[in-house]
Amino acid sequence: MKIGIKGIVLLSIMAISACSEQKETKKSRVDDLLAEMTLEEKIGQLNQYSIGAELTGPGEKQGQAKRRYEELKNGGIGSVLNLLGAKNARETQRQVVENSRLGIPLIFSFDVVHGYKTMFPIPLGESASWDLELMEATAAVAAKEAAAAGIQWTFAPMVDISRDARWGRVMEGAGEDPYLGSAIAVARVKGFQGESLSDPATIAACAKHFAGYGFVESGKDYNNVYVGENQLMNTIVPPFKAAKDAGVATFMNAFNDIDGVPSTASTFLLRDILKGNWQYKGVVVSDWNSIGELISHGVAKDKREAAKLAITAGADIDMEGVVYIDHLKELVEAGEINEDLIDDAAKRVLQLKEDLGLLDDPYLYFDENREKETLLKKEHLDLAREAGRKSIVLLKNQDDLLPLKASNIALIGPLMKDKDSPIGNWRAAAEAGSAVSLYEGLTKALPDANFTYAEGVKLSVGPNNFFQEVEVETGDRSGFAEAINKARNAETVIVAMGETAYMSGEGRSRSEIGLPGLQLELLKEIYKVNKNIILVLMNGRPLTLAWEDENIPAIVEAWHLGSEAGHAIADVLTGKYNPAGKLPMTFPRAVGQVPIYYNHKMTGRPSSAPGQVFYTHHTDVDNSPLYPFGYGLSYSSFVYSDISVSESLLKADGEITASVTVKNTSDVDGEEVVQLYIRDLVGTITRPVKELKGFKKVMIPAGGSIEVEFTVDPEMLAYYKGDLKYGAEPGDFELFIGTNARDTQSVQFELK
Ligand code: GLC
Repeated sequence: MKIGIKGIVLLSIMAISACSEQKETKKSRVDDLLAEMTLEEKIGQLNQYSIGAELTGPGEKQGQAKRRYEELKNGGIGSVLNLLGAKNARETQRQVVENSRLGIPLIFSFDVVHGYKTMFPIPLGESASWDLELMEATAAVAAKEAAAAGIQWTFAPMVDISRDARWGRVMEGAGEDPYLGSAIAVARVKGFQGESLSDPATIAACAKHFAGYGFVESGKDYNNVYVGENQLMNTIVPPFKAAKDAGVATFMNAFNDIDGVPSTASTFLLRDILKGNWQYKGVVVSDWNSIGELISHGVAKDKREAAKLAITAGADIDMEGVVYIDHLKELVEAGEINEDLIDDAAKRVLQLKEDLGLLDDPYLYFDENREKETLLKKEHLDLAREAGRKSIVLLKNQDDLLPLKASNIALIGPLMKDKDSPIGNWRAAAEAGSAVSLYEGLTKALPDANFTYAEGVKLSVGPNNFFQEVEVETGDRSGFAEAINKARNAETVIVAMGETAYMSGEGRSRSEIGLPGLQLELLKEIYKVNKNIILVLMNGRPLTLAWEDENIPAIVEAWHLGSEAGHAIADVLTGKYNPAGKLPMTFPRAVGQVPIYYNHKMTGRPSSAPGQVFYTHHTDVDNSPLYPFGYGLSYSSFVYSDISVSESLLKADGEITASVTVKNTSDVDGEEVVQLYIRDLVGTITRPVKELKGFKKVMIPAGGSIEVEFTVDPEMLAYYKGDLKYGAEPGDFELFIGTNARDTQSVQFELK
């Protein structure tokens, strides 16, 4: 007898009312449902496919699509990704609910990373705002739009710490620092998930990629990872733990191995840490076919073995591997795995469906009117412009060339009129070419200025999309002459250069990280005829900019800022908005310095006597980065003074207050991100030269001063020590407060 969801709901209600007097503990609906399910049906919940609308109708299906259509109707699929639109989702859901024995609804998932239709800055760019409320707000809008379009689950936030700008996926994360990365992970999880997952304007989030993906060797995507447990626990794990503590509904395991053990098959990561030590009750989804890829890793001889390794390790859902659906049943029947493993995984998936409200109403998220009313709302675009402004980092502004004073301006560069690159990679359902270009932003902001324009050089030739390699233009200089001529005849030149959207992101690691193609060559030619250049960078990673920093008077880091990019950048260039962004990731002088990051260790030879060579350095480049973590200028100028601590002794059960005075010595009101760093001078293992432990973004009026205070307690000093136990160690500490990781004042204190 088919009792379906409605039947179970009714039975549960009847059971409750009948038993209310006996005050029996109500078994959860999920337990009831699980008890009804066959082994095949439970395994079906662990099977996830990427499907388009092609499976919403019974039409002629070929090959795999035919099989998937059958599985859709017989409960062989638990969730899908990449199927968009309330109408398509409703029709697909109907196939499942009306045809499968128990009518258990699907979850619809998608990579909603920095917006669904309205695009916000790429996550690395938005992280430069250091504005947690903003990042929660943009995630909430992304969720609202995605949920209106039939999505209940996003594979975001990506919380991988990385110090390697060669890796294309740094654009998806929050940069190099565990403290900032953890705070941002929490903001984004809260934004996506809101107060309740059953609210049809919120979606389940996903902390990914667990773990270590940002440490791929040589920055090459999908490459091997070699980190020790101290690095894993003190640098890589914190943002995942923060996301878990914030209630993130799901995790995604990473593709990579860590010192020989693929994350997909890592019982240490998935069972010992996540589901054991942390008692995590949510769902772990594999990354795309990462279960099947255990064969390529060389730890499984076939899919059957891969299925056994992954389910044992704790990967609950098989995304696009077609491994669980084909092999788990036989493994259970052969007694090689216990059905309890399947039950645990299936229960987690059913609980997620319950939490999303899908067991109450499988069609909760498929309101086409709500979809029409929600996407690209003006208030969403306004938020995108605000997020864009706040993400911009002013890297250089010699002789206050900015804000713009000129009125005879040459607009040059391959990204000046580009309406697509600013949308960025991982662009969800955004329309290609839908961003406001910098050209549009500037000409609208300064209607009376005299603008000339020249592209100068193409950045890429051929296809420019998620699935194909971008071919960089390296031979066509035919546009140089016009650009040079227009630069020569202008007061000021604004040059828009950088990377296209698809020069960073998944599968986009680069071995060199300078301006791609002929851009720097063109810039140098322009510089020969006009030195009043403002370089606006649009890129998805830190770049090497040594010549640019040496010669170009004004440099603005504008990332890929999303739908309102052109307006946001124009707001900063015209002075309508005073930039306050700070780098979430170090910019190197040379790619040979990578990985380079502020919270490095001292080593045994941090320096040496002048003229000696026996210390940690490269002989052909300074040890320091070009721009340090936390760096960013303003149209205001801030002076720090009077750093102090309330006590020089911090007791194990006490706290002290650190304070500093910050004065705005300019005539422009401005925001400043005041940063607190702490160094553990002696530990049982080597400790970073400094670690971010707090930050406050404060508005300081022109000519005004404020005192900024931070509470310091022993919890801030805790870390995974050599024995991997977590805690603080008594001893001496140095406390730094400043405008970035390099420019600080310091004071010492002791933890007793
Ligand atoms: C991709 C990515 C992952 C994404 C998934 C689904 O390969 O590694 O971040 O969520 O597949 O698109």
